[in-house]
Amino acid sequence: MNIAMIGAGYVGLVSGACFAEFGASVTCVDVDASKVARLNDGRMPIYEPGLDEIVQRNVEQGRLRFTSEFDGCVGDAELVFVAVGTPSRRGDGHADVSFVYDAVRQIAPLLRNYSVVVDKSTVPIGTARQVARIITEVNPEADFDVASNPEFLREGAAISDFMRPDRIVIGVESQRAEEKLRALYRPLNLVEVPILVTRLETAELIKYAANAFLATKISFINEMAALCEAVGADVHDVARGIGLDGRIGRKFLHPGPGFGGSCFPKDTLALVRTAQEFGTPSRIVQSVVEVNAAQRRRMIAKIRNALGGSEAGKVIAVLGLTYKPETDDMRESPSLAILPPLVEKGARIRATDPHGIEEARGHLPDSIEYVEDVYETLDGADAVVLLTEWNVYRGLDLEEVKGRMRGNVFIDLRNVYEPAPMASLGFEYTCVGRG
Ligand code: UGA
Repeated sequence: MNIAMIGAGYVGLVSGACFAEFGASVTCVDVDASKVARLNDGRMPIYEPGLDEIVQRNVEQGRLRFTSEFDGCVGDAELVFVAVGTPSRRGDGHADVSFVYDAVRQIAPLLRNYSVVVDKSTVPIGTARQVARIITEVNPEADFDVASNPEFLREGAAISDFMRPDRIVIGVESQRAEEKLRALYRPLNLVEVPILVTRLETAELIKYAANAFLATKISFINEMAALCEAVGADVHDVARGIGLDGRIGRKFLHPGPGFGGSCFPKDTLALVRTAQEFGTPSRIVQSVVEVNAAQRRRMIAKIRNALGGSEAGKVIAVLGLTYKPETDDMRESPSLAILPPLVEKGARIRATDPHGIEEARGHLPDSIEYVEDVYETLDGADAVVLLTEWNVYRGLDLEEVKGRMRGNVFIDLRNVYEPAPMASLGFEYTCVGRG
């Protein structure tokens, strides 16, 4: 099967490489020529565990190519995936679909045989139908269908999520398009992945509803964590106590500094705007957005309190800058909301991250000092803030940590460590929701 994947960003690159791994012939097209050159050189534009091997193997075996030219691959493709970015539009929070429509205007004149043009990006409800209108307008002769096939990949676990998904969602309007997409996903029959075939709008909404629901779980447990601190309860036991009820489920109930990344913040906001626009406001999702912003402010207050009320002149060692482990992505990372106010109030920050330092430099205040080695980061620190739960920070040599520090304040915003042993080691330990 011939596939053109428009956009070699996170979603396009992972999906393109994995479709190739399933045996399809995939051409990834990206307007960013330097990214294409890097990929053709065997260098990955993002850090994602396992991606480089899959890309390398499929390039070597001739099933995966990268180019900046739409010509030459779109015309022969049975499936043309659109996987370009849909960032939050400045000012109003709506997802910006201009990159999708630009890509579609380039694809439309090139369509020769029957093809299915598939939205893979997270796009506002109604986009697939608008894509169909644009194609017909640009190329009235085109023989095509549109489809919506949202992805549910988590950064850092994207390859395994792709290979063993919980479900595949396919929004289509024709039998022919459905058959093409079912054929594409046939390799997943072996692991009995459920395939849900819906209308276009339903598939588009499933993606937003899934992310909004997961974000709701996180904001909910973060609110419970605040209450736990106030009443002297333990949020981990609360999460377990409710999560063992199969109707609630145990996942996504881990408290922390608030959700970040390229998806939850953008998609919750976009859903709020869409619901408003259609006259059915979502008060729940609106609250999820507000609770998440409040959680970040709470974390700043928590750090300040642990430092005795003021961060001025204090040396703070920060472990982890990315929004979660196993990625170098800094988009909407809690560190971007938490660290600048501390710097503004006179804190001296030394920070480390296994893969995020390069990306972080461009986003955080210049005065932050970056250190590669985790233990060196701690030298002379008054406090340590564990901000991202990378594996290397889960089993720290705590005696060495203490020995390197000037103070003994340990602020664990991911609840990696246990309060009682940390106190016995002599740390003034603060975490989230363990009153
Ligand atoms: C999320 C969804 O999990 C994917 O299913 C979806 O495909 C993706 O968005 C997307 O729309 O593309 P991702 O943003 O990569 O994936 O990462 P998650 O593992 O979901 O974490 C998101 C944020 O929530 C992180 O900041 C994480 O630290 C936070 N989180 C997650 C918590 O604070 N508590 C939890 O229990 C779980």
